[in-house]
Amino acid sequence: MLEEKIKKSESLEELEKVRIELFGKKGALASEFAKLKDVPGPEKKAFAEGLNRNKANLQKIFDEYYEKLKKEEIDKLLQAEAIDVSLYGDLDTKGALHPVMETMDKIIDYFVSLNFAIEDGPKIEDDFHNFEALNLPKNHPAREMQDTFFCKDGAVLRTHTSPVQIRTMLQQKPPIRMIAPGAVFRKDYDITHTPMFHQVEGLVVGGKGEVNFANLKSIMSDFLHYMFGDVEVRFRPSFFPFTEPSAEVDISCIFCEGDGCRVCSHTGWLEVLGCGIVDSNVFDAVEYKDVSGYAFGLGVERFAMLLHKIPDLRMLFEGDTRLLEQFR
Ligand code: DAH
Repeated sequence: MLEEKIKKSESLEELEKVRIELFGKKGALASEFAKLKDVPGPEKKAFAEGLNRNKANLQKIFDEYYEKLKKEEIDKLLQAEAIDVSLYGDLDTKGALHPVMETMDKIIDYFVSLNFAIEDGPKIEDDFHNFEALNLPKNHPAREMQDTFFCKDGAVLRTHTSPVQIRTMLQQKPPIRMIAPGAVFRKDYDITHTPMFHQVEGLVVGGKGEVNFANLKSIMSDFLHYMFGDVEVRFRPSFFPFTEPSAEVDISCIFCEGDGCRVCSHTGWLEVLGCGIVDSNVFDAVEYKDVSGYAFGLGVERFAMLLHKIPDLRMLFEGDTRLLEQFR
């Protein structure tokens, strides 16, 4: 009867209650043992032996049943938590790099392969790094070229990656060979401008007379051939406050191969970057003496648009999955 009680338990919890009922201080066995005192002397021994056998027997049945229940509960738990790793996932929703990041990576790969270090700077800049040290003193008309977002206390959202040149030169001694990829901000919005876009800045500084325009020209040409393949490259005199002389670099139009079309405004050329020989005022601002250097800067979105023939810059930031799906 007691044995049945054990085997009726359906869980460890129920079994624990049975254990107390049988083996507890006030349990069934205890009350059997209590009868021992009323058994007449000569029969006591046999009676006690019978009780002990009975108890040992029950204990054995209990222990075995306990092990059985425990194993069952663990099996149940394992089954409930099981994950079928062989199930097929949704194979249609693979992610991919955004075309801007993919283009950025391609640009970075080129310069890293030539031993350029990658430098970084804050997106909220101060006037000194974004303008002053780059030979853009207060009230200089060239500040107008940059439609600046102003923050509190004279801070600005950096309008270009050029301030990273200044930060790097202030922290390191020449020689320097660096690029600075990152987001920049300007108050502008139309088919070729967005308020946030990405640039890659470059700076090379060596001893006096070591770095010249010929070096700049050859590396820019090689870089543009790496990016765009078999195009013509043209250097046009231009102006940037932080370089002198300065140049803007064009490639022959990749849409019409130089014949003239809407994209190149019928000139046959597409402007792709700015560069020049670092102005001595910039070296003065970071207290570099007896050095020479070149710098360059380019817009990553413009490269991405040209490489993928994307007609409107804003498409890159609208997050329309129909555009992004084409880059998987
Ligand atoms: N900072 C310039 C811009 O935002 C780009 C640039 C031009 C960077 C010439 C340079 C440079 O380092 O030499 O338009």
